[in-house]
Amino acid sequence: MDKYKDIHSSVSSKKENVNDLESLESFRQEFLGKKGDISLAMKELGKLEPDERKKHAEELNIIKDSVLSFVKVKTEEINNEILDKQIKTESLDVTLPVSSSSGTIHPITQVIDEVIAIFADLDFYVAEGPEIETDYNNFTALNTSEHHPARQMHDTFYVNSETDGMQNVMRTHTSPVQIRSMLSQEPPIRLIAPGKTFRCDNDQTHTPMFHQVEGLVIDKESNMGHLKGCLEIFLKSFFETDSLNMRFRPSHFPFTEPSAEVDIGYKKKGNQLIIGEGSDWLEILGCGMVHPNVLRNINIDPDVYQGYAFGMGIERIAMLKYGISDLRTY
Ligand code: PHE
Repeated sequence: MDKYKDIHSSVSSKKENVNDLESLESFRQEFLGKKGDISLAMKELGKLEPDERKKHAEELNIIKDSVLSFVKVKTEEINNEILDKQIKTESLDVTLPVSSSSGTIHPITQVIDEVIAIFADLDFYVAEGPEIETDYNNFTALNTSEHHPARQMHDTFYVNSETDGMQNVMRTHTSPVQIRSMLSQEPPIRLIAPGKTFRCDNDQTHTPMFHQVEGLVIDKESNMGHLKGCLEIFLKSFFETDSLNMRFRPSHFPFTEPSAEVDIGYKKKGNQLIIGEGSDWLEILGCGMVHPNVLRNINIDPDVYQGYAFGMGIERIAMLKYGISDLRTY
């Protein structure tokens, strides 16, 4: 250790002067910075014969490790001291009166509550599923095979984990709750499933996280007429108007057949959208009769059972009902 005796003793003596984060950083720089004593000595090693180099490198590394572990331990110690001081001096007087401005419920939460209340009157119960789903529940069980083009349309966030050997994804829609519910319960089923959904999409009208509410009815007789009636009651009630115009446009979803998208009529008055009047159309949801393949995938006999499903964007209906032009301001 002779060659590095000076560095070694300098490390020992200078440790004594470290008493805050600033002096700790100077200490670190002095030995391990670009021009630090240890770094410079390391550079010199290249000039030595291999045997010598090995021996000296070992010595030097011992000193280097001791500096590194001192810096690590000391950083924690100093940070703890800072925190302790803060805890002692920054206290919060919980007996002070609250300020007069009161909090409000976020429009998304409020709309979810409204949707649940309306569907509860129509005998639907609320079901839930996880936000991290298996690729199987999010796509495959919903009749969306591995190379189905709908997978690309969903801009999926893939998660670096698996469940029971199945790749996980952030659910791209609330439809996998259909699968979970049908697996855990015998028909008849009559549920809605509100929740967060995720797609790798971010611009003025899209955010990577958004909300949907799913609807699912499975029994022996529900048909497209029931679906239309149910959505009509819901939409009239939600938008608080009896004169709501709605139209069903043929569409395609892998998990429903036939499938439709639903538009509602509106007109623009200045900056305001008036729902239920006028001759312009806004798309607000997707729906259809549950595809027999989806029922087969979960061992429900499609010759006995049938039903309908729908999925709606919460942000969209919240903005329409409350005239919100940008939800990011909430
Ligand atoms: N999951 C579809 C979507 O996210 C919506 C949908 C749900 C369509 C249920 C039909 C039936 O676009």
